[in-house]
Amino acid sequence: MRPPCQALITGGSSGIGAAVADKLAAAGCRLVVLGRDFDRLDAVASRTGARAVVADLCTPEGLARAADETADVDLLVNSAGVGWAGDLATMGEPDIDRLVALNLTAPMRLTRAALPGMRARGRGQLVYVSSIAAVGVGGESVYAATKAGLRAFADSVRLEVAGEGISVTTVLPGAVRTPFFDHRGLPYDRHFPRQIDAADVASALVGALEQGEAEVFVPRWLSVAARVRGATPQLFYRFAQRFG
Ligand SMILES: NC(=O)c1ccc[n+]([C@@H]2O[C@H](COP(=O)([O-])OP(=O)(O)OC[C@H]3O[C@@H](n4cnc5c(N)ncnc54)[C@H](OP(=O)(O)O)[C@@H]3O)[C@@H](O)[C@H]2O)c1
Repeated sequence: MRPPCQALITGGSSGIGAAVADKLAAAGCRLVVLGRDFDRLDAVASRTGARAVVADLCTPEGLARAADETADVDLLVNSAGVGWAGDLATMGEPDIDRLVALNLTAPMRLTRAALPGMRARGRGQLVYVSSIAAVGVGGESVYAATKAGLRAFADSVRLEVAGEGISVTTVLPGAVRTPFFDHRGLPYDRHFPRQIDAADVASALVGALEQGEAEVFVPRWLSVAARVRGATPQLFYRFAQRFG
């Protein structure tokens, strides 16, 4: 990020968003952290000097409150997100709607709200926390679709704002040790890839911002999965069926 920096972090109350708040505060950014849980937000706010905003991004009121916060931001980090794992046929319709609303619609709405201010100032940085699941994962079809959609959205916005002083960065983490898996209702039970810390993702995110990178996989070697999928989809699906 380019100081002085005023940043809004959705999902700032926990996991990756909270770790990003720590890194940005250490770099001298003024922060707004957004989430639903006041106590967790307050804990992050007290250690980072951030202002806490309680808003549910799945509601029109919460989205409007969050959009109001984007007016002056140089950096918008879209980290709020939830997962859901299981057979699609057993997934409740409200769960489908919740994942799409939080993981995809909210970043779209907040980007739309942030762009006029960024354009007027001739500078801005947009960050989207997608997932390696964007390549497609059996048992996580809706989640994977929201994360692939988010990646395509970011790619499209990047083309739209080219030459306007606004950068767009997509972060695609693998498995990260956060409360994400408790909330999705199924623990992370794979031995490979092993889980990394939220602080590792935050470091990669800030590094990508500083280098002006369009996309970063964390850990970086995970980009192999996306490259294999792009180059030889048949081979990718054979591997995916075998190893999940
Ligand atoms: N953990 C992983 O393995 C992993 C891997 C790849 C990508 N990701 C992505 O990383 C992002 C952050 O996840 P995490 O691992 O840090 O999980 P986390 O610790 O569970 O954090 C999720 C964040 O989203 C916020 N949130 C949830 N529902 C919300 C709502 N309706 N309105 C507003 N905020 C809401 C939560 O805030 P409140 O609880 O305060 O509402 C929390 O701050 C997500 O987009 C996730 O898809 C995670």
